[in-house]
Amino acid sequence: MQAVEEAFREHGLGRAQMPPKSYLYYPQGDLRTMPAYLEGRGSTGVKIVNVHPGNPEVGLPTVMALMVLNSSSTGAPLAAMGATYLTAMRTGAAGGVAARLLSRPGSRVAGFVGAGAQARTQLLALSRVLKLETVRVADVSMQRCRDFERECRPILDCEYVLTTDIQEACRCDVLVTTTPSRTPLVRSEWIEDGTHINAIGADAKGKEELEAALLCRSRVVVDDMVQAVHSGEVNVPISQGTYLQSQIHGQIGEVVAGKISGREDDREITIFDSTGLAIQDVATATVVYEKARKSGRGTALKFM
Ligand SMILES: NC(=O)c1ccc[n+]([C@@H]2O[C@H](COP(=O)([O-])OP(=O)(O)OC[C@H]3O[C@@H](n4cnc5c(N)ncnc54)[C@H](O)[C@@H]3O)[C@@H](O)[C@H]2O)c1
Repeated sequence: MQAVEEAFREHGLGRAQMPPKSYLYYPQGDLRTMPAYLEGRGSTGVKIVNVHPGNPEVGLPTVMALMVLNSSSTGAPLAAMGATYLTAMRTGAAGGVAARLLSRPGSRVAGFVGAGAQARTQLLALSRVLKLETVRVADVSMQRCRDFERECRPILDCEYVLTTDIQEACRCDVLVTTTPSRTPLVRSEWIEDGTHINAIGADAKGKEELEAALLCRSRVVVDDMVQAVHSGEVNVPISQGTYLQSQIHGQIGEVVAGKISGREDDREITIFDSTGLAIQDVATATVVYEKARKSGRGTALKFM
């Protein structure tokens, strides 16, 4: 979370290079490349990552990734690393940073729509920034809800409510949505004033999880304006004219850097629209690389 928050700050201060992700679309999913350069830290590299929602049925994760870190001074590759776990961790970290900045003080109940890989690291991060007493988890599959509770209880031992009814998960202080949905799942009327929402699942054109009416009554903070308009929670409503880009409050890095406000009172609904930024990958992969170098882990490879 520290590395991701720092990366958001650099982005907010205009000290990061990050061209928008490029996508290849397949009938079953997509593949993206994500380059970035954190100028202050000198960290740079590129991630290759897929999203194939049907993969769990063939025994593979929906999201898998490979990261290459480079030297900014020579361009030479420094390391190649599997980045599937890294992706889940940096996505969770973004949710944790956003919840710390935007949720109502005293938030005790977290709701989850989607109980897959990203939901687990979202809960891990929330457990570090909030004093959660209850976790409400909704998924189309009750078995996935049960697996979620079994795997998450060692991280956070609290009351778990498992359900297939999304409305039930919405009775919470902090809601996290992590499905690959292409139709809104969360209705505006289910969300009470004061709720904070981490909208994580919509990260490609055509994806959405929240009703446009909900966006319209909320303070929406995106991770990156260009990416969010193209592929974030706001992408479909903006393209349909039911929500305007000018209604977006700003970017999370601008909140971290103190350039814009976060939550302003206990009654407002706040939404963090996360598309996932390449700077999150570069920042966290650099931490992994430095730790591996220090502890002598990894395998020396000859790239040239
Ligand atoms: N914002 C980011 O940085 C970021 C990073 C990684 C992944 N993602 C996105 O997050 C989403 C989830 O990724 P994941 O790795 O957790 O996938 P996953 O397949 O592990 O989990 C998704 C879960 O959502 C559930 N689900 C699907 N449709 C549902 C519905 N209509 N109602 C309730 N539950 C439903 C599935 O049963 C599954 O348990 C994907 O869309 C992915 O592209 C975003």
